[in-house]
Amino acid sequence: MVDNILKLFIIGIGVGNPEHLTVQAIKALNRATVFFIPDKGTEKAALRHLRTEICARFIEGDAYRFVDVPMPARARNPEDYRSTVAAWHDAIAATYQRLLTAELADGECGALLVWGDPSLYDSMIRIVDRIRANGVALEYEVIPGIGSVQALAAQHRIPLNRIGEPVLITTGRKLGDTLPDDIGSAVVMLDGDQSFRRVDQDLEIFWGAYLGTEDEILISGRLADVRDEIETRREQARQRHGWIMDSYLLRRRES
Ligand SMILES: C[S@@+](CC[C@H](N)C(=O)[O-])C[C@H]1O[C@@H](n2cnc3c(N)ncnc32)[C@H](O)[C@@H]1O
Repeated sequence: MVDNILKLFIIGIGVGNPEHLTVQAIKALNRATVFFIPDKGTEKAALRHLRTEICARFIEGDAYRFVDVPMPARARNPEDYRSTVAAWHDAIAATYQRLLTAELADGECGALLVWGDPSLYDSMIRIVDRIRANGVALEYEVIPGIGSVQALAAQHRIPLNRIGEPVLITTGRKLGDTLPDDIGSAVVMLDGDQSFRRVDQDLEIFWGAYLGTEDEILISGRLADVRDEIETRREQARQRHGWIMDSYLLRRRES
């Protein structure tokens, strides 16, 4: 007997606005019948709600179902970041592997709805590759989505790069105290520590939180002038919602 080959779509769903979905994503949603929804604890209800809302809005008929995926916890501030993340990914892969093999019947197609675009600061592709490396027969397709970088630039109505210059995409953890010499602009994501407080305050910032949602906040200007406002608005919003997702672009001011 030939083993069932599992079929999966990894679909980028945008960062909060259901209208970010591409036509390609909508077609993939309509081919899938089982949606694996991670239970992330934090950011939880709101992000889960967007996923189920997208299914209700774009899938014709109701011949599909959701499977909750419990997310293993990750150690915070570990001594060895890389090996802690690797162990965490192994645990996530094991959970998905168990659920995918148990839930996907022959001929059924599964879908993983990834926040923003699956290529940027998201591990779903790596996790699916781990499952394949474990010997599971699995075919998958990646459908790109609008990520927070595109949403940030669009909402601020700015190009990301200065003419002919590179753009760095980095995390708060990796941001130094100013931009590297040959980099005119940098997008900073995953910054729980508001690292913009410790960089060159003469840089220009374009900050956005809850981009694409009705709670979106946009603030821009010279860091020295707007830093306090960002800090205050960020903290108020975080307390009100219980979670926050924010990103920003830093660039040198034009002389
Ligand atoms: C785990 S990464 C996922 C990125 C996602 N794959 C993408 O394409 O944007 C999460 C980070 O993305 C950024 N982000 C995601 N959604 C956002 C939103 N709606 N508004 C602002 N930033 C967002 C934040 O920097 C957040 O810390």
